[in-house]
Amino acid sequence: MTPLLQAKDLYKTFSSAGSDPIEILTGVSLDLYPGKSIAIIGKSGSGKSSLLHILGTLDAPNSGTLTICEKEAFSHARELRTQNIGFVFQSFHLLEDYTLLENILIPAQIARKNTRPSSELFSRAKKLLEFVGLVERANAPAKLLSGGEKQRASIARALFNDPDILLVDEPTGNLDPVNASLVQKLLLSSCKEQNKSLILVTHDEEFAALCDEVFLLKNGKLTKI
Ligand SMILES: Nc1ncnc2c1ncn2[C@@H]1O[C@H](COP(=O)(O)OP(=O)(O)OP(=O)(O)O)[C@@H](O)[C@H]1O
Ligand SMILES: [Mg+2]
Repeated sequence: MTPLLQAKDLYKTFSSAGSDPIEILTGVSLDLYPGKSIAIIGKSGSGKSSLLHILGTLDAPNSGTLTICEKEAFSHARELRTQNIGFVFQSFHLLEDYTLLENILIPAQIARKNTRPSSELFSRAKKLLEFVGLVERANAPAKLLSGGEKQRASIARALFNDPDILLVDEPTGNLDPVNASLVQKLLLSSCKEQNKSLILVTHDEEFAALCDEVFLLKNGKLTKI
């Protein structure tokens, strides 16, 4: 079977004026197969978010290759990000003054260039809000929601374009146990029921253990554990 996402020998160094360059990734390779889930754990500062950003084409490596859906990822970045990848950020990145429905619809409308009727987009957004348990809050501005609600809304947004791959950064890091468990269930059931592939960065080892494979990022290397 061909991997949906294949990273080979990624290197990344951050250099900033006045300080020594930091080597974050020193030869990272990873294969993600359809319908599978991968967890990445590692100490704070080990480079997990940096790696996830590269895997989502939001940042470029210094060297190495990334293939997503059989395409060279960086030359197809926009297309892949709008059609194949859904990102859930640790800090949500919702538009605070817009309602939940708008938050879900705005990126989707950009991605689809308004080619689908708005009633169809609208009912899909509502369905996803129902899936994440937020349909009653559809018309509330994002700024009024709790952290757990924002995180669930950001999952609905990531699922909107029906991506093949979900890239999720510390989805439960800021949540209380009840919301953390809700978010875990949502992500794992999206994988199983909607056949998504998942790369999850987490500090939560119990959550990581629910994924098909667990990797540790340490000293720039990714090792299966
Ligand atoms: N754009 C950047 N420029 C310079 N240094 C950066 C940049 N982004 C990240 N770093 C540095 O790279 C290192 C890894 O950061 P990263 O955010 O990937 O770690 P992390 O494993 O996600 O940590 P955490 O668990 O705390 O979220 C850190 O030392 C960070 O300061
Ligand atoms: Mg991080």
